[in-house]
Amino acid sequence: MEPHAYKPVESRAVPSLLLDLLGARLASARANAYRYEALTAKRDGRGGYDRGPTRDELVAMRDHEHEHAALLVAAITRLGGDPGLLTPRAALEAQATRGLTEVIRDPRTLLPAAIDTLVVAELADLEAWSNLVDLACAGGHAGLVATVRAAYATDTEHLAQLRRWAAASRVRLSAAA
Ligand SMILES: [Fe+2]
Repeated sequence: MEPHAYKPVESRAVPSLLLDLLGARLASARANAYRYEALTAKRDGRGGYDRGPTRDELVAMRDHEHEHAALLVAAITRLGGDPGLLTPRAALEAQATRGLTEVIRDPRTLLPAAIDTLVVAELADLEAWSNLVDLACAGGHAGLVATVRAAYATDTEHLAQLRRWAAASRVRLSAAA
């Protein structure tokens, strides 16, 4: 054994990589549900803009995130994991993305800037979903692959929608300048 080799951690003490990443997506889906909720409150308070988000659209996107969370809880449970556990990767991602939530929640942040911030969150999610598809494929978890691909498709549509609203805002602001 090398002199500085790490002592092996008991396998029961840490979740598998798959459960670790699923836990991270669960935390992220809940954070995104909260962010869409905050966006809805911002729109309620300040009003929307032409070709910007309607309240119903934002509520629907929040509900999609809740659906993702429910699917992830089911998947983690099916794999023998504990969905109540904050996995190491979930904790790391939460730390890395905390600022996104703070910017969106800040009352000084206007709706277009909050939308731009959610674009960043959805882009990060797509990267993570994509990695999860690869891992689930490699592990032969066919059912999970289908679930994750469906969530990836929904978040792809979220990103496209956010980009349309962001573009409409830029057109409006540049016309006013
Ligand atoms: Fe999303």
